[in-house]
Amino acid sequence: MEATYYIGLMSGTSLDGVDVVLVDLRTTPPLLLGTHFCPYNNDLREALLSLHQSDYDELHRAAMLSNQLSYLFAEATTGLLESAGVFPEQIIAIGCHGQTIRHCPEPDKGYTIQLVNAALLAELTRITVVTDLRSRDIAAGGQGAPLVPAFHEAVFKKSDCHRVIVNIGGIANITNLDPHHFVTGFDCGPGNVLMDAWCLQHIGKIYDKNGLWAATGQVVPALLDALLADPFFAHKPPKSTGRDLFNLHWLEQKMRGSESPENVQATLLQVTVMSISRSIHTYCLGAEEIYICGGGGHNSFLMSQLTEVMQGKKVALTDRLGITIDWVEAFAFAWLAQQAILRKAGNLTGVTGAKGGRILGAIYPA
Ligand SMILES: Nc1ncnc2c1ncn2[C@@H]1O[C@H](COP(=O)(O)OP(=O)(O)OP(=O)(O)O)[C@@H](O)[C@H]1O
Ligand SMILES: [Mg+2]
Repeated sequence: MEATYYIGLMSGTSLDGVDVVLVDLRTTPPLLLGTHFCPYNNDLREALLSLHQSDYDELHRAAMLSNQLSYLFAEATTGLLESAGVFPEQIIAIGCHGQTIRHCPEPDKGYTIQLVNAALLAELTRITVVTDLRSRDIAAGGQGAPLVPAFHEAVFKKSDCHRVIVNIGGIANITNLDPHHFVTGFDCGPGNVLMDAWCLQHIGKIYDKNGLWAATGQVVPALLDALLADPFFAHKPPKSTGRDLFNLHWLEQKMRGSESPENVQATLLQVTVMSISRSIHTYCLGAEEIYICGGGGHNSFLMSQLTEVMQGKKVALTDRLGITIDWVEAFAFAWLAQQAILRKAGNLTGVTGAKGGRILGAIYPA
């Protein structure tokens, strides 16, 4: 049986679960043949969150969680293959992001850690696994993130229209597809990560569905200014970030303490909106069309606020471009696996700031 397809496994900063896609990359545009989402339960989410800081016996706990994730990723993969009627032998490779617990892309001493036991995943699925896709870019002086812009370029760039792709996951990142310029892009700040954390702490829900709770609050101007004054926002790209910076501790340091929870939620939503719109206005001059992907695209209140501040520019979901918002990131990691297998660079120097194009990832053969 000939191997023709790829699998993408994306488990992002939001810790909501793992997105799995089965894709055929031979066609233009590439085809999405099947999808599956496997949510994390509360225990797994909390165990992963606790590894974001140094703590007791963390090496052992990280290794055990890597195993646990690999069983879950394998189950999600085999489930998807069975429902699509595709055999493991038909898959060239799985592109597996792994679960980020630390991201410190400092020059010369930088590192990034994504949990997964790729050897175990290859053993369980009998499929080649490509993982650790960020480290080589960091070793070459880059940020190691975002990595999706190269995929956005491959599938969404047009020669007659200036598009911007905005992924609103835990962190938000933008890709500038100017037809007359090489591709640029960067993490522009928190996407859902702070809204999710605040929402869980105050109303016990893992996210604010459709932004309904945020919509009951009022933006607190002093808090909004204090949050947006963080040097990360003014920092010129290349730049990337994560929970290492944007967490509840960061938020609480900037609060007076008297703000009502719903007003804080409204303000956090506005931080996401303002950081995205300012980034586009500053670094994507002449942008005509803005396409949103990632879970934030489901937040109708966030989308309406973003559309309002983008003043006249077309704002739509990537569904319009043929890939629904929930699967773009996982699709990108399937594509990055193909780049590794074909020995092609997966990073863009105009995005990550690496010294050059690099083949990304570690390959664990089937
Ligand atoms: N209906 C909805 N209303 C509001 N927010 C939503 C809704 N659906 C999803 N979300 C948000 O989307 C998040 C998940 O988005 P996504 O999976 O793109 O993030 P991620 O896993 O961090 O991805 P990545 O790091 O790859 O960008 C949820 O945690 C939640 O905040
Ligand atoms: Mg997710």
